[in-house]
Amino acid sequence: MYSPQISTAFLALHLLLLIQTKTSLGYQYKVGDLDSWGVPPPSNKHVYSYWSQHHQFQIGDSLLFLYPPSQDSVIQVTMQAFNSCSISDPILKMSDGNSIFNITKPGTYYFTSGVPGHCQKNQKLEVDVPMANGTFLPPAGDAVAAGPGSAMSPSSSAFPVVFGPSAAAAERSAATDVRMAVAAVWAIVIVCVFLVSLV
Ligand SMILES: *[C@@H]1O[C@H](CO)[C@@H](O)[C@H](O)[C@H]1NC(C)=O
Ligand SMILES: *[C@@H]1O[C@H](CO)[C@@H](O)[C@H](O)[C@H]1NC(C)=O
Repeated sequence: MYSPQISTAFLALHLLLLIQTKTSLGYQYKVGDLDSWGVPPPSNKHVYSYWSQHHQFQIGDSLLFLYPPSQDSVIQVTMQAFNSCSISDPILKMSDGNSIFNITKPGTYYFTSGVPGHCQKNQKLEVDVPMANGTFLPPAGDAVAAGPGSAMSPSSSAFPVVFGPSAAAAERSAATDVRMAVAAVWAIVIVCVFLVSLV
């Protein structure tokens, strides 16, 4: 009882599953879309705040900070420390040059550089992550809005390696979302056509 319709339907179902898997894996964002996390140039002082405002982060996504470890680092700090550029008591410190911060909980995450003076020069990033249902948590007045999450180095490899495979890091873009939606619609249409053809 194999027919082209059946294979088509299986293909469509497969496609649907693929789309769901892709969605649940999350995306890895290269912070600022820049090859290096560092002090923004005077011509583009607000590159990090602009970048975070133009992306929608979700639980399951991760942030990739790339930088020469001899020159910079990443620290996660509280909102107060973020606002006052106090870097003495970070929640989390990463300094391997190839730092991945996995977003595991909703909330607002604050990052800056561990190098004195860099925060004052706008090397700071605020990332808002909504709950799974899309609702943003109200800003936490004090303490830690979001826990340290989980951070790890993808490997002990040094900085230069990063520009190879990590370039493949998936990025959510409007275009990708549209393509996914179109693919999903097509898969549903194909399944419907198949079901109708059985009648
Ligand atoms: C963090 O993200 C990396 C890269 O995506 C992944 O390999 C690793 O398992 C994650 N770590 C944890 C603790 O989930
Ligand atoms: C999302 O979940 C939170 C906590 O469970 C709840 O307070 C909020 O009303 C929900 N929002 C929506 C839009 O369902």
